[in-house]
Amino acid sequence: MLSNPEAMKPAISTNNKLGKQIPLFFNKAEISGRGIDPVDHRQVWMKDRLRMEAGGNENRKSSRSGSWVSWAMKMFAWGLQATGTFQKGFQNASNIIFREQSLVVPSLPNSFNGFTILFLSDLHLDMMPGLERNIAELIWGREFDLCVMTGDYATASLGGESESLNALKKIVQAIKSRHGILGVLGNHDSARDVFALESIGMNVLINESYLVEKSGSILQFIGTDDIRFYTDQIAQVLKKSADQCTIALVHSPELYDRAAAAGVNVYLCGHTHGGQICLPGGFPVMTNLKRGKPFHTGHWCYKGMQGITNIGVGTSDLPIRFNTVGEVLSITLSS
Ligand SMILES: [Fe+2]
Repeated sequence: MLSNPEAMKPAISTNNKLGKQIPLFFNKAEISGRGIDPVDHRQVWMKDRLRMEAGGNENRKSSRSGSWVSWAMKMFAWGLQATGTFQKGFQNASNIIFREQSLVVPSLPNSFNGFTILFLSDLHLDMMPGLERNIAELIWGREFDLCVMTGDYATASLGGESESLNALKKIVQAIKSRHGILGVLGNHDSARDVFALESIGMNVLINESYLVEKSGSILQFIGTDDIRFYTDQIAQVLKKSADQCTIALVHSPELYDRAAAAGVNVYLCGHTHGGQICLPGGFPVMTNLKRGKPFHTGHWCYKGMQGITNIGVGTSDLPIRFNTVGEVLSITLSS
């Protein structure tokens, strides 16, 4: 049975002690030095982000792959179709799995022992219509304490009424999460998608934090803008020293060192698709990473911080996978 989306909405506190924290990291001087009231940081961010998006790759902190990549992918797809292996890759991409992972976090408050997180990344719902049904089947009858999604909901922008948004809404309605659904933007997501995501019940963190309380203890989640488009505000998010157990939600592993330096305990990300098309043994041909390449897939550690790079549910460029399996991940925390 589908959950009631109203009942599953995140509890945004009115006393500003729990739920989404606006603002937690900013003061007037820190918002681009413009003397703008912190409560307006979303508007400041939106304006900057849309200007960057309008400027294309020139305004990105890190440019996307060049046109030679899409040319190579087209040639690759042609070769696969000519040899009849494209369909096998499509089948591989459709056969997503539910995977459970335990994560021992020494600084985790005792009351969060056994806390479960449904972790989805890189859905790319427009690449494989119907994938939402596979996801819903995998999470059917399961309950989680929290759900987090680390971006790339669709390869094209979600828009206001797109098929991708309808598909995502079905997933959101199928998720049973006691503390709601947190999301961040990926490199395929526009600033405008924030409205669409929040309209279906997600709680998007734009360089913001979200606090969950259990028996008087706090678990802090921070969510950043995407590294490919990030604005000045992101530096302030990761500058915050973690005086409580903190889990960062970032689209890509590429902020690993800044997060570790800020005292983040756990770093959850996606972006790489686990390589998507790998050599036998799971060795990726491409990771789409400029830095943090050792952290392209799965569980990793860096200077006391643990990270998990989700293989992702969907695919980009081509709806195929080889030697990787798309995953719906469930993490169980313990101290
Ligand atoms: Fe992606």
